[in-house]
Amino acid sequence: MADITKSEILNTLKKLNDPNLKTDHLTLNSIKDFSLEKDSLKIEISIPSAEGRIEKKSYEKMVDAIKREHSSLKEIHLNVQSIKPIVSTHQDPKKDKLLPEVKNTIAVASGKGGVGKSTVAVNVAVALAKDGAKVGLIDADIYGPSIPLMLGVQQKPKVFKTESGMKMEPVLSYGIKLISIGFLVDDKAPVIWRGPMASGAIKQFMADVVWGELDYLVFDMPPGTGDIQLTLVQTVPLTGAVIVTTPQEVALIDARKALKMFNRVNVPVLGIVENMSYFIAPDTGNRYDIFGAGGGEKLSEELQTTFLGSIPIDARIREGGDKGVPIIHDDPDTKHAAAIMDITHNIVEQVNIRNSKSTGKVEILLGNND
Ligand SMILES: Nc1ncnc2c1ncn2[C@@H]1O[C@H](COP(=O)(O)OP(=O)(O)O)[C@@H](O)[C@H]1O
Ligand SMILES: [Mg+2]
Repeated sequence: MADITKSEILNTLKKLNDPNLKTDHLTLNSIKDFSLEKDSLKIEISIPSAEGRIEKKSYEKMVDAIKREHSSLKEIHLNVQSIKPIVSTHQDPKKDKLLPEVKNTIAVASGKGGVGKSTVAVNVAVALAKDGAKVGLIDADIYGPSIPLMLGVQQKPKVFKTESGMKMEPVLSYGIKLISIGFLVDDKAPVIWRGPMASGAIKQFMADVVWGELDYLVFDMPPGTGDIQLTLVQTVPLTGAVIVTTPQEVALIDARKALKMFNRVNVPVLGIVENMSYFIAPDTGNRYDIFGAGGGEKLSEELQTTFLGSIPIDARIREGGDKGVPIIHDDPDTKHAAAIMDITHNIVEQVNIRNSKSTGKVEILLGNND
């Protein structure tokens, strides 16, 4: 009998079309335990589910599918653990007034452009949704609204009339709701107009977009620390900010400025993400620290904030961005995707820590329940 691999079982489960199970989101990391002895398979999988439990019917469907596709198996011991992401709520009167149905708002910011801020915003948003959270994403980067491209979105949001004025429906993509300033602002408009347009548009995105209930609303901010950025940061009631940098000194100087800007307006900095940290040569597996090593980590220490993790340089990340397919979706089992997933979990943990401080409650990152 040919060996059955983890991937084969995963493929079988991914094909299940069960509304109660998000099996299409499973990755190799979801398999916690796997052993095959002769014709007996023992497997343990964790599956994100909003309710935190798996229905018996769904469980049986999974076992049946494995039996059907792998008929050589005599015994199947399937253990399913449902992971319910616990989302704590940021208590803030300003946020409750502007975005009553949104639990948390996270800014992804950087001191300078081109460091991968949008890449991080997109992949973290999709990763949160994979974990079962309800996620919205606002592309607020007036200088280069690139998120529709990165998510392969071509359509414009629907606009419709209601009693309380015109409303806009966000565009759905990879399980998240998206609005981009690129939908509204002509990309040939001179930059000088963009400041007032930006804060006007952001206010509109918060007031006139029908977001529905959201666990996280992520903002891809314009890079830099000028007046426009400062105005935006004060317009949006933020739970916290994530700062993206690359490891080299010139980028770190600007990351430091970004952190100070958030401190000045009393927005908690959730931590620092170091992008393009190193390169692993695909042929030799050797690691190259192209931009130097450990800059983000050192900066986090210096500024007493959390180091949320690092993401290597990889052609697939860039290709994913250009093709409109985020790596976290397309290639979830790669090291790069795992790094982004880790960063996402660290961000959630930081959000929960902030919220527990403001509410006096302690929440945990992921709750298991059988
Ligand atoms: N870790 C990475 N590996 C390879 N390419 C990357 C990585 N992060 C970002 N890129 C690419 O670098 C370019 C700039 O990234 P982007 O997210 O648009 O930066 P920013 O929003 O900070 O300007 C994009 O083409 C993107 O696909
Ligand atoms: Mg960008």
